[in-house]
Amino acid sequence: MPKIFVTRRIPDEGLDLLRREFGEAHVIVSPHDRVIRRDELLAGVRGVDALLSILTDTIDDAVMEAAGPQLKIIANYAVGYNNIDVGAATARRIPVTNTPGVLTETTADLTWAILLATARRLGEGERLVRASKWAGWGPMLLLGVDVYGKTLGIFGMGRIGQAVARRAKGFDMRVIYTDVAPLPAETEKALGATYVDKATLLAESDFISIHCPLIPETIHAFGAAEFKAMKKSAIIVNTARGPVIDEEALAEALQRGEIRAAGLDVFEEEPDVHPKLLECENALLIPHLGSATKETRGKMAEIAARNIIARLNGQRPPNCVNPEVL
Ligand code: DGY
Repeated sequence: MPKIFVTRRIPDEGLDLLRREFGEAHVIVSPHDRVIRRDELLAGVRGVDALLSILTDTIDDAVMEAAGPQLKIIANYAVGYNNIDVGAATARRIPVTNTPGVLTETTADLTWAILLATARRLGEGERLVRASKWAGWGPMLLLGVDVYGKTLGIFGMGRIGQAVARRAKGFDMRVIYTDVAPLPAETEKALGATYVDKATLLAESDFISIHCPLIPETIHAFGAAEFKAMKKSAIIVNTARGPVIDEEALAEALQRGEIRAAGLDVFEEEPDVHPKLLECENALLIPHLGSATKETRGKMAEIAARNIIARLNGQRPPNCVNPEVL
């Protein structure tokens, strides 16, 4: 029977599928409910046929080497897979899979929660109440900005960007977006979204929401120059990957009032947050909760398990990101 190593406990929807298919004893879940240490990871993968990884694990060539030549699949429990050296996996002819689709709407919901909470200063309001400093209703207390009728700029118009754009209709917003290429005309029409270049997105958006993957071209796509090019009243939201924003530059832009506020679900060095950002009252900071609902995390676990089951049964894993190895 093949052996599967799971680097951290995931919802039972996935583990039960694997256990039913391969037997309880063959599904080894790291006993620590924390990010697995490098030495534990290298020891855990030894001799396994499948690795189920979490987005906080760095899966590089050394991990694949430690696993051994029988490793047949790396199934990531996330839609993003920037934590895996896909090039190294491809060179070893190991398929890498992710969990697309099921977290699209959930992540779009959280993006809107953050956008609204940032615009209406809910983080500051909550802190005020909890600190017992609220002196009652005030005409000038924590005035935010309206969301409806404004311009939403979407940076990266894939599945999640489009789901965010659909929700903007309910707020009567103008939606502009940028990506490597425009969407087909009928998709743009259905979304009511207009393709623009990055400079226009920066200049015209009241809210910018980031939904691109983390690839070399998107690292620090938002830095000092971008913040200077945005409206002083603009709010930036990131539920994609932390390194798309230069956090030091963002903190400085927030402190200097170059932009109004930021709502962040992801950070450059999770779980560390840049100390200057922690000092910014106008930054809403959320601990990477984009896909964190019971329903979605269950579905993600099921997808990761189904990819492993397919591969170990000699079938095509449905969500392979390097299909050239199959
Ligand atoms: C993903 O799947 O990439 C998300 O960031 C998890 O929340």
